[in-house]
Amino acid sequence: MVKFSPLLQLLPFLLAPATLAADNVYTDGAGHPVASPYDYQRAGTRGPLLLQDFHLIDLLSHFDRERIPERVVHAKGSGAHGYFEVTRDITNITMAAPFSEGVGTQVPLSMRFSTVAGESGSPDTNRDPRGFAIKLRTSQGIWDWVFNNTPVFFLRDPTKFPLFIHSQKRDPQTNLRNPTIQWDYWSQNQEAIYQIMILFSNRGTPKSWAQMHGWSGHTYKWVKADGTWHYVQVKLTSQEGIANFNATEAKATAAENPDHNTQDLRRAMDRIEAGNFPTWTVSIQTMTPEQGQKFKYDVNDLTKVWPEDEYPLLEIGKIVLNKNPENWFAEIEQLAFSPSNMVPGAEPSNDPVLQARLFSYPDTARHRLGPNHLEIPINCPVAVHNFQRAGWMRIDGGAGTLPANAANYPSSFSAPVSFVKRPYNLSAIADPVTPGPATTQGTYELSLLDFEQPNTLYNSEFTEEERQSLVSNIIGALNSVTIQDIKQRSLNMFACVDDKLGAAIGAGVGLTAKCTLKP
Ligand code: HEM
Repeated sequence: MVKFSPLLQLLPFLLAPATLAADNVYTDGAGHPVASPYDYQRAGTRGPLLLQDFHLIDLLSHFDRERIPERVVHAKGSGAHGYFEVTRDITNITMAAPFSEGVGTQVPLSMRFSTVAGESGSPDTNRDPRGFAIKLRTSQGIWDWVFNNTPVFFLRDPTKFPLFIHSQKRDPQTNLRNPTIQWDYWSQNQEAIYQIMILFSNRGTPKSWAQMHGWSGHTYKWVKADGTWHYVQVKLTSQEGIANFNATEAKATAAENPDHNTQDLRRAMDRIEAGNFPTWTVSIQTMTPEQGQKFKYDVNDLTKVWPEDEYPLLEIGKIVLNKNPENWFAEIEQLAFSPSNMVPGAEPSNDPVLQARLFSYPDTARHRLGPNHLEIPINCPVAVHNFQRAGWMRIDGGAGTLPANAANYPSSFSAPVSFVKRPYNLSAIADPVTPGPATTQGTYELSLLDFEQPNTLYNSEFTEEERQSLVSNIIGALNSVTIQDIKQRSLNMFACVDDKLGAAIGAGVGLTAKCTLKP
């Protein structure tokens, strides 16, 4: 039976600077005292180097391995630590901790904000959605909220994700970002339209990580002990409101200070005297299974929003960031979030994209950080008891000695093990059949229904200024597309949202817009 509490290992990060050897004597990696960091051995005074010089070899070989693979998406990011506090009793909706532990319960968390397509050194202000990932350390284990700063996503078929990302990342031939390929993808996968509209508004270039809202995007199921459940979407509302750059400001900032938002977050965190830390209110929207069946769209389609006037926001908590990382690599780069990290009382919906993400994140963490990534203190500083053994970079002492920590079960030698069962049965929370778009070989088909919410966004939610910046940002982007058919198809997509929008963009790119989905 494995028992360890990496919380103790995390404490130095969160509470105090890591202590070096007690007397601060400089050593090599194996603890041998060495006269100076610059020390190396030569044959004679000017001769070649010696193979026996462990200090130099240790220094260089460790340096050679300082980089780990960057995240395949969301590589550029920064973050901070803080807490989540329950502000409303929602035990009528879920048994999940921390909500089951009463109003006022606080759990520690770490949060990471990121851009999506750029590499780890790319500018913070590039046009892109922003990742909004939160690691809640609850009494029932880690609960990761791996959200974005947009309520919808580009796709609803998981198989499209790698292909879509290829279109946004660098062209394999030239190693340059390629707008023609980006629009080639979007114009042939037009369920992305809502997210494209947000992306090309000034919301695509946020000024500050602390001034963005966050959304789960996906539908989840939150369940009570008796097995009754609700569909749930989560929204985080920045208490400072949102702030965005326009395209000119975003480009200028990218040139002047590619780390603008990273720096801004650290500054935001420095407002300690004012007690004015970055804060979000956490709200949920809920639907009963019956409401889900009556919803106009598929309740599991993450290209759609749940209108807030029909499904009002219910405030349930707040998030406060109050501590900067002391070591960026240990506390931010080594963070590994996964939507599969859920606590009893929170379950995934049947959204196929969410289902695929449940696999993809732990899988990429195994690649990026290794099979024992959950032992890295920042990822799992809560008690873990299981029978996993060994593997690369096991750092808990291999889970201890027999008999207390037997690796088999049942064991005549292990300490008593107790088990907790989820009170509800997973089959009891199966979805009723929900309406939704037609599918071909599992892939959703596009229809005019997919353009209704973007139309509302354009006409009723965007201000006149936002409409104008949207049009000029799209014109700027489409004018870099080199193939006429792709430009025309992209333009036509906007005519399906709204004729006026199509006409305004058409005037800027010298083409006439026509929605080919309309009769
Ligand atoms: C990061 C896959 C959709 C939010 C990542 C990473 C992968 C990935 C492989 C890198 C993780 C790491 O290296 O630690 C996918 C796949 C998707 C998908 C396969 C769809 C099939 C989404 C959606 C959202 C989202 C819909 C938001 C609603 C994020 C965030 C991160 C991330 C916030 C950065 C996490 C961090 O800060 O470490 N995604 N993703 N992704 N993804 Fe997704």
